[in-house]
Amino acid sequence: MKVISTEKSQVLASRIAGALNTDIVDVKFSRFPDGELYLSAGALDDETVIIGSVTDNDALVQLLLLIDACDTSKNHLVLPYMGYARQDKRFHDGEPISARAIARLFKEGIEDCITVNIHEPDVLKYFGVPTRNISLAKDVGAYIKSMDLEDPLILAPDDGALAFAEDVASVGGWDCDHLEKTRISGVEVKMAPKKLCAASRSVVIVDDIISTGSTIATAAGMLYKQGATEVCAACVHGVLIGGAYVHLKASGIREIFCSDTIERGCSRISAASCIASAIKN
Ligand code: R5P
Repeated sequence: MKVISTEKSQVLASRIAGALNTDIVDVKFSRFPDGELYLSAGALDDETVIIGSVTDNDALVQLLLLIDACDTSKNHLVLPYMGYARQDKRFHDGEPISARAIARLFKEGIEDCITVNIHEPDVLKYFGVPTRNISLAKDVGAYIKSMDLEDPLILAPDDGALAFAEDVASVGGWDCDHLEKTRISGVEVKMAPKKLCAASRSVVIVDDIISTGSTIATAAGMLYKQGATEVCAACVHGVLIGGAYVHLKASGIREIFCSDTIERGCSRISAASCIASAIKN
C-alpha cells in the first residue's frame, strides 16, 4: 500500500505515510498554458490511499484527476476537509445541496472514503461508496492539555457544536458549555455561556471550522467583558479566510490553533495518527 496526495495535503499525507510505515508517491503537478491542471503520478502499488482536502475548486479538480490517475490501483479516499459541506440543505428555493453535489463525485475509482469532522454527518449518505467520519476531538483535547491552562472552560460557539466540545472537554474532565445569544435590542446581541460563568476562567472556544473568525472574535470580546482571564480558539479545519487569524489576534485571543486537515502556520495538531488508525481498522 502507498499513500498519494494532492498538493494542498502533502504535509499531512507524508505524516500519514509515516504513521502507516509506508511510502508516499512523488507526484508531479503543473498546469497547461490555459490554466487547466495536470499531474503525473509515480509508480503505484496495487492498493493506494488517496489524501486530498477540498479546500477550493482547484483542489477538488486535482483530487478528481488524482483518483483517475490511480485507476490501476484499489483506492481508499481520505477527505481531511470537505469544502462545500456547510451547504448541506436547501436553505432557500433554487439553491443546490452543494454537499450532496460534491459527495456524489466520489463514487468512481474508489472503494471507500474517510472524512474528518465533516460539518454535517448526515451528508455521508450522499457518497457513492461506504464512507465514515472520524473526529479529532481527542487530539484537540490532548493539545489543550499540553497548554497547561488552569482549569479551562471549554465552550462551543453554539449548541450545534456542543457534542464536539463535550468530547474535547472529556479529555481533561474540564467544564463545558455552549454560548447562547440573547438579543438585548434591535442592534445589540449578548453572547454568554448558557449555564456557567466565564469570570476568572481560561476559556477555550472550540468549533469544527473557523472561517472568517467573526463568530469567535465577537464571543471573545464578550467573554473578556464578563471577566474571562484569557480566551483561546481551537478548531479542526482552519479555513481562516481573508485576515481571519489577525482578526482573532486583534480581538485578544491568546492562541489560535487548528489541525493540519488544512495546512496552516497554526496547524498545531496533526490528524495523521487518527487517520492512520482509521485506515488500519
Ligand atoms: C458553522 O456552522 C461552522 O460550524 C462554524 O461555526 C462557522 O463556519 C464559523 O464561521 P466564522 O469563522 O466565519 O464565524
